Amino acid sequence: MLRVQDLSVNYQGVPALTGVSFTVNPGSLVGILGPNGAGKSTLVKAMLGLVRSTQGLVDYHNQPLQRQLNQIAYVPQRSQIDWDYPVTVAQVVMMARTVPTGWGRSPGRQARLLVREALLRVGMENYSDRQIGELSGGQQQRMFLARSLATQASLLFFDEPFSGIDRQTEEIMFDIFTELKAAGKTILVISHDLGESLKNYDYLLMLNKELIAAGTKQEIFNKANLHKCYGRNLNMSMVC
Ligand SMILES: Nc1ncnc2c1ncn2[C@@H]1O[C@H](COP(=O)(O)OP(=O)(O)OP(=O)(O)O)[C@@H](O)[C@H]1O
Ligand SMILES: [Mg+2]
Repeated sequence: MLRVQDLSVNYQGVPALTGVSFTVNPGSLVGILGPNGAGKSTLVKAMLGLVRSTQGLVDYHNQPLQRQLNQIAYVPQRSQIDWDYPVTVAQVVMMARTVPTGWGRSPGRQARLLVREALLRVGMENYSDRQIGELSGGQQQRMFLARSLATQASLLFFDEPFSGIDRQTEEIMFDIFTELKAAGKTILVISHDLGESLKNYDYLLMLNKELIAAGTKQEIFNKANLHKCYGRNLNMSMVC
């Protein structure tokens, strides 16, 4: 089980997140929702120790998550990646195996096989030797999904994996999430979509500097929570 307790983050003394607590069962797909600036990326980064929290605990299987980074795959928001870095698709996916293989050692046959299988699973097997800057937005997301699969992590974080991708890529991603769930893995996904895609999630977190609501869509999708999270100007016709 993943347990976040009373997590808070300040940036230069300004609160970005206050007192966030929730638990997630293994084998679930969790959606993290909230408007721009709500602290969604901050929540994930604080859980992973990429930004410092001012207070709070994050446990996975009753041990601090930050001591189990080998269990984790994380795909940051796309804007935070240097796309000019001269590296190919296969090299990015192979990074997933760098830690298990050991720095400086060449990947073995099994690592290469895992990378090939992962690229095949996301339909990117013909792009192995492409520079990452020469990929479309959807192809970039698929590449990172392949890298996450190749890590064989049990806890996966995706920050806005659906931004700027087509319906087919979104469907492939949700299919893969379903397979990962069936294998007992836990997936947390930050999304801005309040439409049909919400049916895919087992559990939702509605965030705006604090946790506004947590639960199934049926439990938390009501006007009061939505207005509290997104403001009164939210166009309810956009909400599924
Ligand atoms: N490194 C930083 N230094 C200072 N302030 C930051 C930093 N990173 C984020 N913030 C601020 O913290 C708040 C939350 O940012 P965060 O990126 O977590 O939001 P978000 O919910 O992921 O938004 P978006 O949907 O736009 O990605 C914002 O007001 C942002 O400006
Ligand atoms: Mg963000």
